[in-house]
This record gives sequence, structure tokens and C-alpha cells, in this order.
Amino acid sequence: MTGMATDRTSNADAVGLDPEQLRALQLERLRWSVRHAFENVPFYRQAFESAGILPDDIRSLSDLAKLPFTTKNDLREYYPFGMFAVPMSDVRRIHASSGTTGRPTVVGYTQTDLDNWADLVARSLSAAGVKPGWRVHNAYGYGLFTGGLGAHAGIERLGATVIPMSGGQTAKQVQLIHDFEPDAIMCTPTYLLTIADAMEEAGIDPRSTSLKVGILGAEPWTNEMRHQIEQRLDIDAVDIYGLSEVMGPGVAMEAAATKDGPHIWEDHFLPEIIDPSTGEPVPDGEPGELVFTSLTKQAFPVIRYRTRDLTRLLPGSAYPAMRRMEKITGRDDDMIILRGVNLFPTQIEEIALGIETLTPHFILELTRQGHLDSLKVRIERHPDVDLATCLAAAEVLKLRIKTSIGTSVDVQVEEPSSLPRSEGKYKRLYDLR
Ligand code: DLL
Repeated sequence: MTGMATDRTSNADAVGLDPEQLRALQLERLRWSVRHAFENVPFYRQAFESAGILPDDIRSLSDLAKLPFTTKNDLREYYPFGMFAVPMSDVRRIHASSGTTGRPTVVGYTQTDLDNWADLVARSLSAAGVKPGWRVHNAYGYGLFTGGLGAHAGIERLGATVIPMSGGQTAKQVQLIHDFEPDAIMCTPTYLLTIADAMEEAGIDPRSTSLKVGILGAEPWTNEMRHQIEQRLDIDAVDIYGLSEVMGPGVAMEAAATKDGPHIWEDHFLPEIIDPSTGEPVPDGEPGELVFTSLTKQAFPVIRYRTRDLTRLLPGSAYPAMRRMEKITGRDDDMIILRGVNLFPTQIEEIALGIETLTPHFILELTRQGHLDSLKVRIERHPDVDLATCLAAAEVLKLRIKTSIGTSVDVQVEEPSSLPRSEGKYKRLYDLR
């Protein structure tokens, strides 16, 4: 196996680098990563050769743009282990993302990869304000999904106590939160809402628990959702981002001190934003598709991997050398095109959560009559607000969607607890066309 980049910068030291030192570290690691992929993964060798570029042509960070992109389809083509860059005997763990259709995407980790991942999740937890010695309730799913085990290792690495609850069994989640008195919880934001509802049903005030921080991610969520969760549970809610192909949770993390979007751990992952239609890189601050190149991964290097997540790069704040990404508005594959207007489920979330008499429990249904698509928002009313008030609120929701997004939708008020509840990544959109 090609050795790691030769520098000795530790994961603990890297957060303190100044921007110039960080760029130098990134270049050294980039050159290693590109060569490692080229020499050990036939897919990358062929892709670089057809683009007429060799590892030695990467002399500066801007040379990155000469390399071809990698897509999820490329990874699927080489199912299951064809993208691995080390012998299988050096692979210590495998994860896979389920994918809604076809083959799952399989990823692998060496022991060094697992160590880096644990370090970065521990760094993320510190950014969230979690302290060694705290108890952390981990309700991300354990198994092939990277959420559960990825978070687990980072909690231990930080020196905190992990409660490995996994997802589901909501009544038990409530009981353990009550009895074990964790300081922090890790789960998807929609699942935390399910847990808060279940607390109320069990006669527990969600504001009265021991929880101080929620480390929430794995799905898009808005600042409005953050405010609602913080109010409802009396916690700080911070955003953790990641994806299996690039590592898992902890690729980027929002600091509790600033709550201004996740900082990308740039000592391990080099981000770019591209125009999704042309593939051209856009300057920092401009919106587009997030693309990652791994800088240290041994078993599963990714070069210019297209995430399909839409965001912008912003300057670092709590960690000045590391750039931030704006909270993700959506993926290009959950964009709805409704009579010529583009819209994301998060835009509906933002508007719906601004209306107090409605709940955050809603789903979207896309139907087609003749040639015309229509979108219905089915949203639950509050149990303690009367129906007439909720119907009036639904009209307000319709009007606000029309004025701020520019398209008409139907709104249907549903009875409390009638819509499906989240147990992990929540499915908001049902395409019934
Ligand atoms: O969801 C890894 C993860 C686990 C992240 C736990 C955070 C916490 P995948 O299943 O491969 O991995 O899904 C990755 O989920 O490309 C985004 O579209 C979405 N996603 C993940 N985190 C966020 C977030 C995990 N904080 C895909 N905000 C990504 C918005 C997110 N979307």
C-alpha cells in the first residue's frame, strides 16, 4: 500500500493552522491522494489517462480542476469492492448506503481511516460543545449506515460515554433519556421531533430532560427547524454533515458558538463548488453543487466526487482556517420543478414552521392531471388548537408559498399523529405521478 502523506501534522494540531499552512498541507496531501488513487484503482487510472492528466501534473491546488469528476454511478459500476485502493486484507470495516434504487454504494476503511474518522467526529463533538465525561445518547442507526458506528467511535474518542441506542424503539429512547440522563443526543432532526412527541405522550416535558445539545444531521433541515427544536427541548441544536462516500458523519460540523453552518474539516477533505450544469468551478460565496476530494483516505479515496448537495462556501468563523458551507438547502435530486418553478422541500419547511398553529409534521405529494403537475402539502394540526384556526393557518401557508416561491400548492390539514413519523432520514416527498 502507498504510505500516508509524509507530513506529521496531527488531527489535533490541524485546527490551529493558519490558512497558508493549511493550503500547504492540503497540497501535499492532495498530491499523495491523487497518486494513491491513480496507482491503486483502475477506474481512476483510466479516467485520468483519458483526461490526459498524470499525478505529477498536480502542482498547485488549482490544478485540481484538471481532474475528471467521480459520480455515484461510477461507484456503483464497480460494486462491490472495485473502487478500493488497498488489498482487502487491509480493510477493517465496510459500510454501505442503502440507495433507494439498485445496488448500494459500498465504502471501505483501513485502521488509519477509522482512526481519522473517530478523530474528526471527536473534533466535531468538541465544536458542538460536548465535553469529555459527558454522556451521549446515540440514536443514529447502527449497521451498514455510517451514522451509528461513525458517531459511536467519535464519542468514545472524545472521552465521553456512549449510549449506543441506535434508531427506532421510540418509547425506549424516551425511557433511556429519562433514566440515563445523557447530556447530548445524536440523531436526525426529524427523529428528535418524534422523540419529543413521544416524551409528551409519556407525560415528560421535553424541556425538563438532562439534554443540553443535539448533534443533528443526515438530512436537510432549516434554521426555522433549529429554533423550533431548541425551544421545544431547551437545547442547543447544531448541524453535523457528512456522506458515506466521503467518510460518514463528521466531514463538516457547525460550531455551537456561532451556529452559522458547518465548518468543513479541510485538512482531510478539499471542497469545491461547481455549476451543476457545466461542471465549471464557481468562486467561494457562489451557490452550486458541492464536490469533495479526499486528502488522506487509504481504502476508498474519492477524487472530485459530486455530492449533488447544493450549498455555498463561506469563510471560516469559529475555526478561521477552515471554510464553512451554508446549511444545505437540498440535493439536486430532491428539487421539485412545479410548472416551471424550482422548489425544495426545505423552502416549504421554512415557511410552514413560521406559522405557529401548524406543526412541523408534513409531507409533500406530487401528482399529475393531464399535463399539469400539482403539489399538495399535507400538514398536521396542533392537537390543542381548534380546527377552524388551523384551516385559516393553512390558507396563510398557501398564500406565503405563493408569494415567496411563486407557485400555487394545495394545503390539506391532517389530524394530529396521522402522518408517518420519522425514525431516521425522513421521507418528505411522495412522487405519485
Ligand atoms: O447521512 C452521514 C451522516 C450520518 C451525516 C449522521 C450526519 C449524521 P449518507 O447516508 O451517505 O450519509 O447520506 C449522505 O445525506 O449527501 C446529504 O444529502 C444528506 N446529509 C447529510 N448530512 C446532512 C446535513 C450520512 N447536515 C447525504 N444537512 C448527503 C443536510 C445532509 N443534508
